[in-house]
Amino acid sequence: MTEIIGGYFTSHVPAIGGAIARGLEGDPYWKPFFDGFPPIRDWLQEKNPDVAVVFYNDHGLNFFLDKMPTFAVGAANRYANADEGWGLRVCPPFEGDPALSWHIIESLIADDFDITTCQEMKVDHALAIPFQLAWPGGGAWPLRIVPVAINTVQHPLPSAKRCLALGRSVARALDNWKSSDKIVVIGTGGLSHQLDGERAGFINADYDRFCLDRIVDDPDALTRESIHDIVKRAGTQGVEVLNWIAARGALGDAPLKKRAENYHIPISNTAAASLVLEPA
Ligand code: DHB
Ligand code: FE
Repeated sequence: MTEIIGGYFTSHVPAIGGAIARGLEGDPYWKPFFDGFPPIRDWLQEKNPDVAVVFYNDHGLNFFLDKMPTFAVGAANRYANADEGWGLRVCPPFEGDPALSWHIIESLIADDFDITTCQEMKVDHALAIPFQLAWPGGGAWPLRIVPVAINTVQHPLPSAKRCLALGRSVARALDNWKSSDKIVVIGTGGLSHQLDGERAGFINADYDRFCLDRIVDDPDALTRESIHDIVKRAGTQGVEVLNWIAARGALGDAPLKKRAENYHIPISNTAAASLVLEPA
């Protein structure tokens, strides 16, 4: 029987990759952020998942502004990372799980989600950084992936309500998946941040706390505002919380509890958070 071990959520600021490459985890600037990860690594070592279903947003590596799907699901054998211009090392490619990808795609489309299916897909820092944080040391990744990309970049963006519904549809697909695999659901991005415009540097710790609390047992509370109100509360890039909301939906309706949590302001321009939820 397929087992969902729980959810791992983290910010994906590219500078984290530079800090890992330079061995700065113990540096005073970085330590309060990296201190959140030993418990997450321990949990993943203990549970040893076979597959990760990853909700993230592409920032222009695979999709650009000319062709921007609202929701895209990877169905490739392999997903390469590539140079995005942040000065980061390109990380090893990720092995796909096309059978599970197509199962999720068929189930989403049967549930009336009009998604884009991608048999070729590069994955950017939003997927790579969370993997580098969770499975440090380089080398091949120890699990396969199904990437689910949500447009948080080019308006009009999907509503939080729609992202939660998408995640819940993925939960139903996982519930029907016949395998002996252990699956971890991952959500990346956020929390509050704004990289551009007059409010560049904007962070809203109150809203982040609200998200970190409600995501556990009342994710619908995060879906009552319009996307424009979420931009006001979380910042233009803080809407990456949509990836967290979708990932939370994919964990289903059974009660969850926090296994690990960390929140630190700022990493680069971002309120950086990490969280693990597991079955209560
Ligand atoms: C930063 C944060 C992001 O989410 C991102 O995708 C790129 C940069 C930052 O704070 O620098
Ligand atoms: Fe981002």
